[in-house]
Amino acid sequence: MVKKAELHVHLEGTATPALVKKLAAGNGANLDPSTFKSDGEFAWTDFWDFLSCYDKAAAAIRSKDDYRAVTYDYLRRCALEDVLYVETFSSPDHAAEAGISYTDHLDGIAAGIDDARRDFQIEGRVIVTCVRHLGPGRAMNIARAFTENPHPYVVGFGMGGDEAQYQPTDFKPAFDLVHAAGYQTTNHAGEFGGPESIRATLDALPVSRIGHGVRAGEDPLLVEELADRKIPLELCPGSNIATGLFQDYQTHPFRDFMEAGCIVTLNSDDPPFFATSIGKEYDRVAKAANLDLKDLQTITRNALDAAFCDEELKEKLK
Ligand code: ADE
Ligand code: ZN
Repeated sequence: MVKKAELHVHLEGTATPALVKKLAAGNGANLDPSTFKSDGEFAWTDFWDFLSCYDKAAAAIRSKDDYRAVTYDYLRRCALEDVLYVETFSSPDHAAEAGISYTDHLDGIAAGIDDARRDFQIEGRVIVTCVRHLGPGRAMNIARAFTENPHPYVVGFGMGGDEAQYQPTDFKPAFDLVHAAGYQTTNHAGEFGGPESIRATLDALPVSRIGHGVRAGEDPLLVEELADRKIPLELCPGSNIATGLFQDYQTHPFRDFMEAGCIVTLNSDDPPFFATSIGKEYDRVAKAANLDLKDLQTITRNALDAAFCDEELKEKLK
């Protein structure tokens, strides 16, 4: 099996329905019954309803040790799919909502990474992430917590959430603060926003990568610019298909970005919500886009090159 690396996956969104139920049974969280369908899978209808289902599932993660368990379980599943390295988004806003402090949520995640390294020889790092629709004030609070509490496993800063809310310029103070402290950043853009959302991100924020970016495909000049500027794209085909942006893997433009010379990476985003995994993404895209082993190895190499971790770790993983 080809070795893999993943740069775009939301930690709270990796917990399977079974793990969410197990955590809630252990910590007494009241799970909203609308979180699940009758077959036990997560219940959501469109992207915005998915964001709400994500919030309901994340509410089951209520302690440092719950964060450890979620991290460990995800890295365990990844190791079974020959993944070398995972850079996961964590959301201090979701942790705070569940009563967990910024430092406790990171300590829990770090313990999960340490345990998974010991048991499965997989490596992980964290991108602390703000939630766009919660607004620039909350983003700034997270950026401050980020710079005031440096953590050896936290390698970058990001933003997810509803791209239709606010403008990238509104988040410039938060992104600039962490960037000035020496960290790299990434922003979800060009998922449910069009090419203009990617341009606005590139104009306003000190990002080194784009989260998704798939809708750049609607603007050939932008694709050319992303290729020329060597800005890696965190593409998430299975997520895009599940949320209705593309019909199937055959019509997803993953290969078009490769052929245009863009630096592409392959990611699972929120795997149990989207009935996928990083291994399935490699398999499904390889089949649909007719990629050979060398192409897949290039995708992994792109991810390791674009990772926010230190060079020493990258060299060890390559
Ligand atoms: N948060 C979790 N998954 C997300 C996605 N696909 N887009 C934006 N925000 C998210
Ligand atoms: Zn995402």
